[in-house]
Amino acid sequence: MILLDGKKVAAKVIAQAKVEVDVLKSAGVEPKLVVVQVGEDPASVVYIGQKLKRCIEAGIISEHMKMDSSVTTEDIVARVHALNADSGVHGILVQLPLPAQVNTPLVMKAIDPKKDVDGFTAYNVGKMTLGVEFEKMTPCTAQGVIELLDEYQIPVEGKEVVMVGASNVVGKPLAIMMLNRGATITVCHIKTRDLASHTRRADILCVAVGKRNLITADMVKDGVVVVDIGINRGEDGKLYGDTDFEAISQKAYAITPVPGGVGQMTVACLMSNIVKAAKTLSV
Ligand code: GUN
Repeated sequence: MILLDGKKVAAKVIAQAKVEVDVLKSAGVEPKLVVVQVGEDPASVVYIGQKLKRCIEAGIISEHMKMDSSVTTEDIVARVHALNADSGVHGILVQLPLPAQVNTPLVMKAIDPKKDVDGFTAYNVGKMTLGVEFEKMTPCTAQGVIELLDEYQIPVEGKEVVMVGASNVVGKPLAIMMLNRGATITVCHIKTRDLASHTRRADILCVAVGKRNLITADMVKDGVVVVDIGINRGEDGKLYGDTDFEAISQKAYAITPVPGGVGQMTVACLMSNIVKAAKTLSV
């Protein structure tokens, strides 16, 4: 069984981003990310901390803007517009989820697609659906999965890929990127009947739901590649994915650990997207 080591591959991606950051700096461009945090969602606090730490490693300037949880959609949109207009800012990341009173799609729509380092704006999502040659600012987790599989030379073309989870953040973009690479895609979601009948067919099973042990060993075939994108905190305080890692490891050809798998790749690919944005904006 191959352990898909996200930590190791992420370090490589970040080192490459740092090389490109140094080139930009020698040309007078100081790549900068602004993270907008609304409220104090505990998971968001952890994720933002990881993003800011990696920026330091990659030599990227970062600014952490906090807004009160009582803000309106208009308040956040005004903040985003100011960042769009600031030529010293290359990446804008509005951490999700936003409070219930905020219209999230309107906030996403306000972000300049060139500074959309999450790849969540309609322009960037629409463009990537056209094909691999149109993928540029891709959502970081989906990009991270693709790069992790590439690194371990696990081919996607012609494979049965089953994506469990159909969110705009992970499931839908990852399904599109797999389709762009010639896989046959099944996307399962909360309304799917008989989940196991789908997961058992998977050559590559990607799971991004947020439910510990959703996928058990009886739900996968021998030789499967499992990409576990779930993050769940157990009662013991430890992090767990959405799959039964121990039991599935006995059947799988390859599997990602949690932690140390896809999560690390997400943050690394954010660094790559900031570099792409800084390059695009500085020509
Ligand atoms: N919340 C959970 N994942 C993400 C992400 O990748 N980007 C943003 N902005 N918010 C998130």
